[in-house]
Amino acid sequence: MSKPRIFITRSIFPEVIERLRGHFEVECNPSDEVMAPQELAAALRDKQGVYCTPTERMSAEIIAACPDLKAICNMAVGHNNIDLDAATRAGIMVTNTPDVLNETTADFAWALLLATARRVTESEHWLRAGKWDKWRIDTLLGVDVHGSTLGIIGMGRIGQAIARRSMGFDMQVIYHNRSRLSPELEAKANQARLVGKEELLRSADHVILTLPYTAESHHTIGAAELALMKPTATLVNIARGGIVDDAALIDALHAGRIAGAGIDVFENEPRFHPGFLGLSNVVLTPHLGSASAPTRKAMANCAADNLIAALTAGTPPNILNP
Ligand code: DGY
Repeated sequence: MSKPRIFITRSIFPEVIERLRGHFEVECNPSDEVMAPQELAAALRDKQGVYCTPTERMSAEIIAACPDLKAICNMAVGHNNIDLDAATRAGIMVTNTPDVLNETTADFAWALLLATARRVTESEHWLRAGKWDKWRIDTLLGVDVHGSTLGIIGMGRIGQAIARRSMGFDMQVIYHNRSRLSPELEAKANQARLVGKEELLRSADHVILTLPYTAESHHTIGAAELALMKPTATLVNIARGGIVDDAALIDALHAGRIAGAGIDVFENEPRFHPGFLGLSNVVLTPHLGSASAPTRKAMANCAADNLIAALTAGTPPNILNP
């Protein structure tokens, strides 16, 4: 019996490709370039499975052009690059890679929070530019993280991992989420307390965004929300770019309406609003939340497990449209 045919859209770890070759006829994008939609549709036309990453837009048009497709396996927990409704209508299973990246992504949220509050990258640029002539009482003063109130918008598994880390900083945690966590989970998340979005923005000293990107979460943080925040507050976004209105954030940072921001994700990655570059009170990173070597390996294997299960066993473990 011939093996199912799959396509891998970007360069991934060779050992994961080898595992997949044990189950499938594997074709790979010969380069690591992001494929144009027509190229992608042509590559997928005769495939039963696709192993993709957040850089591929699996649109309704591409899905309609691939009648043999049975599984779309994303190597990411976020899946806003995939038209889930179109895939579901076409009877295609869609999977993601939850859980394996929770702790690593929470670590990175903290890296951004601390770097932003204590002006770490700004200080390094200042030092490298030769501006350090002597110690002064007021050089590059930041805001405190310990003892402050952390506001988390989107209290899924990553949000909860971020909250757990706040215990060591003696912080209070408030969160805004579609639904309330169980009392047990709230207790584990440093006694986190559910509040409305407005209360969170007004009360938090540091706000971290970890919610999924959907039509409803588009521009969750815009000019009106930034205006509610304390002038000493910081904002960290490790979720998806479109959740923040970048132009409004740049205005707020420029005017000092908030103290700073740590931004790992942008609306049109890898492009980003040039206004960020003129600001010293923002820490910018290129979508690195899950980027530790062990976690990227775990995500790659998780996506492979999903694809193998989808095309050989029926229902994959991390199916988004059961
Ligand atoms: C995810 O898994 O959604 C991450 O953003 C990819 O790095």
